[in-house]
Amino acid sequence: MKIILLGAPGAGKGTQAEKICAHYSIPQISTGNIIREAMKNGTPAGKKAQEFVHSGQLVPDAVVIEMVDDRLKQDDCKNGFILDGFPRTVPQAEALDQMGVQIDKVLDIEVSDDVIVDRVTGRRVCTCGATYHVQYNPSTDGVHCNKCGSELTIRKDDEPETVKERLRVFHEQTEPLKDYYQHKGNLVMVEGVGAVDEITKRIMQALEA
Ligand code: AP5
Repeated sequence: MKIILLGAPGAGKGTQAEKICAHYSIPQISTGNIIREAMKNGTPAGKKAQEFVHSGQLVPDAVVIEMVDDRLKQDDCKNGFILDGFPRTVPQAEALDQMGVQIDKVLDIEVSDDVIVDRVTGRRVCTCGATYHVQYNPSTDGVHCNKCGSELTIRKDDEPETVKERLRVFHEQTEPLKDYYQHKGNLVMVEGVGAVDEITKRIMQALEA
């Protein structure tokens, strides 16, 4: 199964991707995680990305497209994958087509902007990629990751002003992808408000329809 997860920042793409990946035994390819890892390691791509990420802008298409192209060539992608946060612009979607990738379903997780702000400001993350929310999805002790025990942190781009900018950029540059995939006939919309497990159920029904 080859899946794209569309949705605003904080719509729950990462949270749901983890569950879908476990269900289908396919890798989660999160461009946000790849970029943050590159920034942490100080690679040339990471250095280029840093100012964009911290100000809530998209990293230039060429940088992200190269990262995804490299990642999709790895062996674990042969039987499918879930793209979480890519494509995010029409040129990125066109680049994916040019790579010859046939996508089965494009899942758009729909959440309104006011819910997004509440979710993102309560988010806590772990370096292993796990995501929590102080109220809606807390780790067992609220401080450490349930999976690896590391201390949870707040993402630098989750500050309220940066979140507003990320939402603006989403509406301007990423939302047009809904039309792009609607025309291709593989777009499925899923209501993203409700309990995490309830949304997972909706997504599984949409994927298996
Ligand atoms: P990225 O890391 O992809 O961020 P994003 O798309 O803004 O998405 P988020 O990670 O913020 O949210 P999410 O939808 O995964 O939600 P989550 O599951 O965490 O990208 C970061 C930056 O990297 C971008 O701004 C850009 O600069 C750059 N970048 C990345 N990809 C790029 C690309 N393709 N091109 C260019 N630049 C790129 O959930 C959010 C919170 O809500 C969590 O706390 C969670 O626990 C909670 N939650 C989840 N579901 C529910 C629920 N049902 N009810 C209540 N709370 C919930």
